[in-house]
Amino acid sequence: MKRREFIKQTGLSAITAWAGSSLLLSACHTEEDMMGEANWIVEGGFTQALFKPVVVEGNTQLIVQTTTGQLLNGSSSSILSYRNGLLGNTIKATRGETVSVQVQNNLGEETNIHWHGLIVPEDMDGHPKDLIAAGSSFTYALPINQRAGTYWYHPHPHEATARQVFMGLAGMFIVTDSEEAALNLPTGDFEIPLIIQDKRFSGSSLDYSPSQDEIMTGYLGEQIIVNGTYAPYASVAKGWHRLRLLNGSTARVYNLALSNGMPFHVIGADGGLLAAPESVNSLMLAPGERADVLIDFSGLALGQSVYLLSKKFSQYNVQGRQQYNIMKFVVEQATAPAFTLPTNLSTINVIPTASAVTTRTFDIAALVGGMGGHGGMGRHSIGGKTFEMDRIDETVQANTTEIWEFDNRMGDEIHPMHIHGVQFQILERTGGRGNLIATEKGWKDTVLLMPGEKVRVIMTFPAYTGVFVFHCHNLEHEDDGMMLNFEII
Ligand code: C2O
Ligand code: CU
Ligand code: CU
Repeated sequence: MKRREFIKQTGLSAITAWAGSSLLLSACHTEEDMMGEANWIVEGGFTQALFKPVVVEGNTQLIVQTTTGQLLNGSSSSILSYRNGLLGNTIKATRGETVSVQVQNNLGEETNIHWHGLIVPEDMDGHPKDLIAAGSSFTYALPINQRAGTYWYHPHPHEATARQVFMGLAGMFIVTDSEEAALNLPTGDFEIPLIIQDKRFSGSSLDYSPSQDEIMTGYLGEQIIVNGTYAPYASVAKGWHRLRLLNGSTARVYNLALSNGMPFHVIGADGGLLAAPESVNSLMLAPGERADVLIDFSGLALGQSVYLLSKKFSQYNVQGRQQYNIMKFVVEQATAPAFTLPTNLSTINVIPTASAVTTRTFDIAALVGGMGGHGGMGRHSIGGKTFEMDRIDETVQANTTEIWEFDNRMGDEIHPMHIHGVQFQILERTGGRGNLIATEKGWKDTVLLMPGEKVRVIMTFPAYTGVFVFHCHNLEHEDDGMMLNFEII
């Protein structure tokens, strides 16, 4: 059975609840498309100050625990934590050093840590086979030998990744290098990390309980939190700021823009700086993706505010049909350090397509095993397969270049595809949006495929041999089996 037919039969209560919405009436869609309106965003008052995660430089320790977090205007909830609240500290490292992170697992269940975007040896990568048992600890040694950029860390135990991330386990990992330092980008109070996530609550408790159809669409929360703060505001100055954006949601895609329509300047993507800044009015950011942007608030008057919001981006998907505010910037300081937007940022060595030794194509649109779970709909797959821990699905040679194609042309769901152990370049997107956005002109480890799209990426595998995974970063899809192993030999 196709997903939409299933939704048609099960989504009646949601449809009834929203039948009066003029937005939906004007959108003029069939009732099957109305599923998901129960996940309409509820905006807060933007009265809580944005929390800024503590930055730790170099070696550190993470104690993974169940704790009580203060959420939503003082209510408290049981959460999973790397410190004593949602999200872990930001770990900062300089290219060339080796960072060791000792992880003490005080949860009553297995966990591990994947260093998303970092290129590290197999046994340090947080493959789902490499778990830290409840009550045990493991020390990750991470040789940092890659471009400056905004990376992040989160758990990766198969079938528990989405829940553990949703319940609070994630953090930023920033790499710096001399190339980036020479640009004198806004720093200190003028550099703001923004980890954007959607959460769902049952009463005042964080609630992760996806239904069968939410495993299909992704689990969408009704409240947007940034750095763990619901509906926050940040005090800014009349001048330049650097925002390091990370979409740490399990499934929600954001189409980021500013409420006054002001452009902002994209300077970096998953794998660090772009060759040159690109000015945009909006920017799509899928789960797992990062964007480094510069904003100049000097055109605003003291006391004025502007919202970071998500614009509509889809007419028919369960998400993307609503515009909502994410956070507020209030201009409260008259001056910021002088800064001029550079014309060039970095050198990106384009990987020649002729250097690819092979092309692999993966159909990511099909649901397989249709008589199984999810009301008979089947499970998310890559190339017709779902994850098996001990099966090697693809074998590649260290230090060689390949082209991989992800094909969602027949699909009706959103899939952000992520590959461990490499940074890639995107060659082209055909179908759907049909082009590359600003961040996609830089180094990437995660790429968004909207329904109808096909994307080709090129990458050179590192010298690290061993088994790594690639998967959909819609974490409900990943836990559903939309993940495969590849071995670098
Ligand atoms: Cu952030 Cu395997 O993922
Ligand atoms: Cu990763
Ligand atoms: Cu997916």
